[in-house]
Amino acid sequence: MGLIEEVLVRPKLRQKLWQWWYPFFTRRVRAQGISFLNYAFDGLDDPRPELRTEDEADRPNIQLYRHVLGGVDLRGKRVLEVSCGHGGGASYFARYHGPKEYIGLDLNPEGIRYCRENHQVIGLSFMAGDAQALPFAAGSFDVVINVEASHCYPDFPGFVAQVAKVLKPGGWFCHADLRYPNGVDEWVGALSHHPLLRLEQMRLINPEVIRGMELNTPRYEAMVRQALPRLLHGLAMDFAGVKGSRLYRDAVSGEMTYRSFRLQRRVS
Ligand SMILES: C[S@@+](CC[C@H](N)C(=O)[O-])C[C@H]1O[C@@H](n2cnc3c(N)ncnc32)[C@H](O)[C@@H]1O
Repeated sequence: MGLIEEVLVRPKLRQKLWQWWYPFFTRRVRAQGISFLNYAFDGLDDPRPELRTEDEADRPNIQLYRHVLGGVDLRGKRVLEVSCGHGGGASYFARYHGPKEYIGLDLNPEGIRYCRENHQVIGLSFMAGDAQALPFAAGSFDVVINVEASHCYPDFPGFVAQVAKVLKPGGWFCHADLRYPNGVDEWVGALSHHPLLRLEQMRLINPEVIRGMELNTPRYEAMVRQALPRLLHGLAMDFAGVKGSRLYRDAVSGEMTYRSFRLQRRVS
C-alpha cells in the first residue's frame, strides 16, 4: 500500500496529517495567489463558461465547481461551502451566481486568513470550523457545497448527517471527491442510504478530472518547485496530481475513483 492510500484509510492519521499539511502549505504558497486546491475538471462536450480575464488561469478548477453545482440555482440563496480551501470556488460563485449569502468554512485557519485577504465580495464571508461539527442551526441553508475534501474527514457518515441537519427541506447537497477502493462502500453507502437525503445523481468523472490534472500540470509543477523544499517535491507532485504522478496514474487506471453527487434534502 502506498503512502497516499495508507493515509486515506486511517482516520486519525489522516486528520492529523491534513491539520498539519494545509496550514503549512498555505504559508508556503501564500505569495503565489493559489486560490484553488483541487484537481480540476475539463468536460470535452461541456459549453465553455464565459469568464473574466482575471479568472481564465483558474478555468479548469472553476469548471470542477460548475460541474459539482450542476443546474442548482444559487440566486438569492443561502449557501454554505464546507472546506472552501483558499476560497477560489466561493469567490467564483459569489461573483457569478448571485447568492444572497455565501459562507466558506474550513479547518485551516491560515487558509481562512488567505480567503479574507484575497476574496472581498459582497455577501461572501469565511470562517474557521470543522466539517464534523458544523456550527449552524438546523435548516439554515438552501445549498451545501463540498469539493474534494471529504477524504480528509475522520467520519464521513457523521459529516453527511451534519449536512442533512443544516440543509432546509428541499435544499441541495452538491459534492465531489475521490476514493481508493477500501473507502468506496462507506462513501457511496452514506450518500445512498441517508433517511433525510435523496440521491439525485452520481457520476464517475475520472476522464474529466484527468484532463483537468493535465491542464494544471505546468502550473502545479512550478508551484511545488517554487514553494516547497526539494525533499518534499516527489510527495507534493503526487498530492498535486501532476501528469505522471502516482495519483494521476491511479486516476487513469481507475484504482482511484473521482465522483460527483447531487442530493436533495427530503421535505418530510
Ligand atoms: C484538497 S482541499 C480542497 C479545497 C477546496 N474545496 C478547493 O477545491 O479548492 C481540502 C480542504 O479540506 C479542508 N479540510 C480538511 N479537513 C477538514 C475538516 N475536518 N473540516 C473542514 N475542512 C477540512 C482542508 O483544510 C483543505 O482546505
